[in-house]
Amino acid sequence: MSETVLLVGGGGREHAIARAVSDSSATLYACAGNRNPGVAREAAGFETLETTNPTAVTAYAREVGATLAVVGPEAPLAAGVADALDEAGIYAFGPQETEARIETDKPFQRRFMREHGIPGCPAFETFDDPAAACEYVDSHDGDLAVKPAGLTGGKGVKVIGDQVTAAEAKSYIRESDHDRLVLEERLVGEEFTVQAFVANGDLRVTPAVQDHKRAYEGDEGPNTGGMGSYSDAELALPFIDENDYMTAVDILQATVDALGGYKGILYGQFMLTADGVRVVEFNARFGDPEAMNTLPVLGTDLLEVLVAAREGDPLPQLTFTPRATVCKYAVPEGYPTDPQGGTRVAIDADSAGDALLYYASVDERADGIYTTTSRSFAVVGVADSIAAAEAIAEDALAAAGEEGLRSRHDIGKADVVQKRIDHVAELRGE
Ligand code: AMP
Ligand code: GLY
Repeated sequence: MSETVLLVGGGGREHAIARAVSDSSATLYACAGNRNPGVAREAAGFETLETTNPTAVTAYAREVGATLAVVGPEAPLAAGVADALDEAGIYAFGPQETEARIETDKPFQRRFMREHGIPGCPAFETFDDPAAACEYVDSHDGDLAVKPAGLTGGKGVKVIGDQVTAAEAKSYIRESDHDRLVLEERLVGEEFTVQAFVANGDLRVTPAVQDHKRAYEGDEGPNTGGMGSYSDAELALPFIDENDYMTAVDILQATVDALGGYKGILYGQFMLTADGVRVVEFNARFGDPEAMNTLPVLGTDLLEVLVAAREGDPLPQLTFTPRATVCKYAVPEGYPTDPQGGTRVAIDADSAGDALLYYASVDERADGIYTTTSRSFAVVGVADSIAAAEAIAEDALAAAGEEGLRSRHDIGKADVVQKRIDHVAELRGE
């Protein structure tokens, strides 16, 4: 039977998913709030619609005769889009709303870890009242991470002793309109991501990735959705060993076991600390940018995984080409605090050279593709080593030019990777 896949979402992550689906025998349709020109080019049809409206998504899925759906971003999952598709008889590879709470509700996530004895949970307290949270900041000995309960696009967490002082954290708690909060132990170490395909009780993991959340080089500045990321030519990363990777996988497995019938991607954000691997958070979807590291090296046909998930079959064992990847986002000047969109994007798949080009929040007009106020496009180098992949990504950024755009050129550079290795050695007392 030929499959028709509906992809929901229009970012760089979805462009990577679109390419993986269109490399298979499936027919791809896509819908998103923005017309992503990269996704649109891969798809037989593209509809601009409100992806947090389950009725609109389901109607489009029916119209195109979708036999499967992949929900890319978190907002539609939080809005129950996977539930609506499932109810309409269109299998959604993505968790239902209650299971997506592992991402969308941070107090739930931490309590869930505690109740089920999932290893790696930092010490935490949950609050429904900003005044009580502020009192806790005053009385607590040691640095805390302040986390709003709901989705904030990766920009809501404030870490005392890192980005903010205790006084600034309290102002943030008072002035922001987040009533429900988690205050938790500040974790110090190196972050890494492990994403897994999950369905029918099976977990199939993918290579570890390191994202770079901070806006500016040297990990300075405000948090962003993620400025870029790298993975190595093996499952682990240069600063984590196989044991660390396996600890992360065990945590994902314990989480999947405790969740029961979870389906979709489970994304673990981990911190390798002096006390071992801890969980920063879970996401209920691929990471953006991490999907752009993972999918280009996935040897297994993505469609085969999706069909097995739908059919209730065991998920296939995944193969990966042993290549390192480096992904760098180009973002509008001023992003994330005061982004200036409206610059014409001067790169296309041809001028990107050896790099893969993924479009994100851009606006396609009659005379070209323009930046908006969110991340614009990403370039990905794939090569035998992180250094070689980094050079490919940099060449593509050079071809794109710098007008109106900014990137983190340090991501994946040898000295920056070495700093991570040295940091972990120091934490381990080596
Ligand atoms: P999240 O929105 O949970 O992804 O958090 C965004 C970023 O905040 C993470 O990638 C970390 O860099 C940082 N963060 C979150 N929780 C903690 C924590 N407990 N300790 C230190 N940093 C944290
Ligand atoms: N790269 C982090 C995220 O997708 O949330």
